[in-house]
Amino acid sequence: MEKQYQFSYDYFDSIEDLVPEEAALLERAREKAHHAYVPYSNFGVSAVGLLENGMIVESTNQENASYPVGICAERVLLSTISSVHPGVPVTKIAISYYNPKGTDRVPIAPCGMCRQALQEQQVRFGKPVLILMSGQNGAVVRVKDAAFLLPFHFSGEDLER
Ligand code: THU
Repeated sequence: MEKQYQFSYDYFDSIEDLVPEEAALLERAREKAHHAYVPYSNFGVSAVGLLENGMIVESTNQENASYPVGICAERVLLSTISSVHPGVPVTKIAISYYNPKGTDRVPIAPCGMCRQALQEQQVRFGKPVLILMSGQNGAVVRVKDAAFLLPFHFSGEDLER
């Protein structure tokens, strides 16, 4: 039997096509990407989260001379939220980047490890997280549920069976 996995996403030509709340979140992410600690890749990534209580938390990727020690912006964000605002779900995350060596007009998506971290947050709170992805300008991709980015995910439920 063949089965299919499908999901929908939204594609906007410009930040101007977003609702104001989401445009503001992405605007902050675009600015924040310039403040990443990226002496090795020079590829600055930012993730800005809107919490259920209305607060906004910002993050960037943090690199290290021992390369694998570096942490992606998305996981910095989720760890910061869980530490500073424990128990408060994040409802929307805008991800952007700054790449002085090449283009930063093309939306980027979270890496596989960050998708797993997003999945943990969704299972923990039982709520979808909306993800906005965009560079410094140009198109915006919007996924209404981060679980769409990680089909066949592994979760705590698998440990209970
Ligand atoms: N990076 C992120 O911060 N998030 C991602 O989802 C992909 C990659 C960072 C890791 C590293 O500091 C730099 O981008 C280049 O890979």
